[in-house]
Amino acid sequence: MKYQKSLVLAPVFLVLFFAKPLAPKGPDIPDDIAQLLSKHTCSSCHAFATKLVGPSWKEIAARKYTKKHIMELVYSPTPGNWPNYPPMAALKNVPKGDLSKIATWLTKVK
Ligand code: HEC
Repeated sequence: MKYQKSLVLAPVFLVLFFAKPLAPKGPDIPDDIAQLLSKHTCSSCHAFATKLVGPSWKEIAARKYTKKHIMELVYSPTPGNWPNYPPMAALKNVPKGDLSKIATWLTKVK
């Protein structure tokens, strides 16, 4: 009986688990930044607190990069920094102004 109950609940947990990363933005990402992240496809690989294809914004922020360093890492990634992830492709066509806003936000994420 006990096992039957957890079988019934399993789909509920699965839905909760997968629904989260699919949300376009979390409450912790301001609208203007969320827009940039989706426009430049960052949000298809990065979520606020959940691992997707790439590390979460929180995890990246914990590395305490400077704004300049973040911008360099997007234009020319160093995959060795994240051994358990596939390498991120260099995103050289993200306009500097947009990336600057994203990077400034990222330095403030806690
Ligand atoms: C196709 C998936 C994908 C997209 C799109 C993507 N990233 Fe990433 N990103 C990754 C992966 C995977 C890593 C970890 C491996 C690496 O750094 O190469 C990463 C790492 C990072 C890091 C940490 C770099 C380091 O060396 O610590 C930053 C910052 C980052 N991404 C920002 C961005 C921004 C900003 C965008 C959008 C302009 C973006 N990413 C788009 C997959 C992606």
